[in-house]
Amino acid sequence: MSKLWGGRFEKETHHLVEEFTHSLAIDARLWECDLAGSKAHARMLGKVGVLSADESAQIVAGLEWVHEKIANSGLLGSKLFNPAGEDIHSELERLLTEKIGPLAGKLHTARSRNDQVATTTRLYLRQEIKSLEKELQSLETWILEFAERNLDTMMPGFTHMQHAQPISLAQHFMAYFAMFRRDSERLQDCSKRVNVMPLGSAALAGTSFPIDREMTAAELGFAEVSSNSLDAVSDRDFVVEFLSAASLIMTHLSRLSEELILWSTPEFGFVELDDSVTTGSSIMPQKKNPDVAELIRGKVGRVNGALVGALTLLKALPLSYNRDLQEDKTFLFEGIDTTRSSLRLMQLMLEGARFRQERMESALKGDFSNATDLADYLVRRGLTFRQSHEIVGRVVRDCIEQSIGLEDMTLEGLQRYSPLIQADVVAILKHRDVMQARISQGGTSPSSVKAQIAEARRNTFIF
Ligand code: ARG
Repeated sequence: MSKLWGGRFEKETHHLVEEFTHSLAIDARLWECDLAGSKAHARMLGKVGVLSADESAQIVAGLEWVHEKIANSGLLGSKLFNPAGEDIHSELERLLTEKIGPLAGKLHTARSRNDQVATTTRLYLRQEIKSLEKELQSLETWILEFAERNLDTMMPGFTHMQHAQPISLAQHFMAYFAMFRRDSERLQDCSKRVNVMPLGSAALAGTSFPIDREMTAAELGFAEVSSNSLDAVSDRDFVVEFLSAASLIMTHLSRLSEELILWSTPEFGFVELDDSVTTGSSIMPQKKNPDVAELIRGKVGRVNGALVGALTLLKALPLSYNRDLQEDKTFLFEGIDTTRSSLRLMQLMLEGARFRQERMESALKGDFSNATDLADYLVRRGLTFRQSHEIVGRVVRDCIEQSIGLEDMTLEGLQRYSPLIQADVVAILKHRDVMQARISQGGTSPSSVKAQIAEARRNTFIF
């Protein structure tokens, strides 16, 4: 196979070197973005007169032909590509040459694979970020609707995995909404730095041809052109930024996965996952395992690994382009694919999940998660919080000895601990009252959660 760079070489490349350096199997998926970049470049070269109008038009038509051919080939070009091809850029040029002959060789004027691959990768990531944002938004929308239906569904709220105070299931899920909303914001912010065009930086130093980078950028929808050619061909910060945002998405998904796993144990019994998203055991007939949740939790390792991999790639890398950078795509694609499938599967799992209200509510019985409210009650009657904390602690100890809940204490029983306790105490000790009383902004009362939902709906992003 002839190489794009064969001229100065006398010997053939060693076959092990070929295998080691090839990236086609990985970067083939960039074909469409790479063609788009090439088309814009060819059009621009025609406009500024580096190519004749006719040459430019023939190249553009040729690139469109290549596009058609790949799009119609099924398996996105894998049948057309030569497995021995070096990378997607050389394969596309080979296909273009098949169609239009040696004129194809003019496409690379004022361009190098260094600025080409950086541009293509950015185009690809820009599109993938949009699609991930859609997945995130769909999950966010599901949570909002779920929260609306569960403003009054009670459950224990935990700290240290111990019952702390009663909350609503809506409040619990709105916490995840807040995490995913930040994830959306991070992706949007990262997009700003992705949407900068390196094309026209050529190999590293720019070009002596009178190119018009703004024209190419406008055609490709880039918001800006890169400001320095050396940086443009060697910068992969945007990959690191994206992977860091992806790692956080995965981290959030892993927290939710962990809770679904715990909640579906018989000990909790808060949720039953649908048969369609669980698996059985080959030996224990009774089993229904939350494998999807476990795999999402496990796959965080892939994305964290990709993030560390990308950072390691860039560490101490001298300017400008170095072949090390070819490895960026393995990490980037791992991050994109894993995050997308995990988001989708999380939503699928949630859509089929049956949350068992009765189990969540009965878990609250006698759990003392209303103790803070008795302490607050005494504070309202003049004690300092420290004094009332001490008193309520003693009440709780007494209840434990009697094997009853705080809500089961009689008024007389409570009055033995403080004469400040009056008949109105019964109105604050029921778990539902405790939950409903937390009306502070961001709190768990139905009215506060409703306000959170309304605020979230006002700020919904439009992609
Ligand atoms: N496959 C290469 C990459 O992904 C393309 C750029 C190659 N450039 C070079 N000068 N060898 O980075």
